[in-house]
Amino acid sequence: MLYQVGLCQFQPKLLQKKENLQKMINLVDGIEADLIVFPELATSGYTFASQEEVFSVAESFAKGETTMIFQELSAKNKTSYVIGFPENYNEQLFNSSVLINPDGTKHLYRKTHLFNEEKLWFTPGDTGFVVANAKNEVRVGLMICFDWFFPESARTIMLKGGQIIAHCANLVLPWCQQAMLTRSLENRLYSITCNRTGTEINGEKTFSFTGMSQVISPLGDILFRLNNDDEKVNLVKIDITKANDKNITAYNHVIKDLRTNFYWHTNK
Ligand code: ACM
Repeated sequence: MLYQVGLCQFQPKLLQKKENLQKMINLVDGIEADLIVFPELATSGYTFASQEEVFSVAESFAKGETTMIFQELSAKNKTSYVIGFPENYNEQLFNSSVLINPDGTKHLYRKTHLFNEEKLWFTPGDTGFVVANAKNEVRVGLMICFDWFFPESARTIMLKGGQIIAHCANLVLPWCQQAMLTRSLENRLYSITCNRTGTEINGEKTFSFTGMSQVISPLGDILFRLNNDDEKVNLVKIDITKANDKNITAYNHVIKDLRTNFYWHTNK
């Protein structure tokens, strides 16, 4: 089955939620695809200097502005969206992403592996890796940025039946884009890494984000990769059935060859 997927790489403005939401709407409205992924913390920017700043842009998954706006847009454009946003749940802050579908269903993921100073603002995610139906019942697994560094993240998504990883990112280290070729290959699934662009300054703090958002095939091929400063939506048609083939050779299989009794036991 052909499935049209893509991403929306752009530069969010720090703490300017309304402006960021309007930019996101302008970039994707009128485009009918199957799945479009946005960056991590797309609605808020990244370089926070205090928890008060995070609270000023954080919102609820169930009733927040981002969920409401994109539920409407999803039904109108017949497209599933995955969006990174700062979540306020009972005054607890999470670095979260939401999968929103044209049929009105929505699914929440809270980032498992917090990066650097995120540990000052956010609570580590408690949802585990979420795999859920997107449009046309394609199984999408949610992962956020630094989760890539831990191969267990993508592995868990594959074992839960994920066919595509929707990977919202705000990447500052240089290795992720190449590493995701291996994450896709070793799990035989598609990955969509949507990174942001630009440099963000907040007082003494500065982060430069690497862009180069990409879609990778289950054989580790780069189906497309954007430049570091593109602000645009890019789409590609993929054959989703290729993510179901876990055979490596006539004798090897990604799941059947696992030797789980030898993993994680260090005999200390
Ligand atoms: C990251 O996890 N935002 C690098």
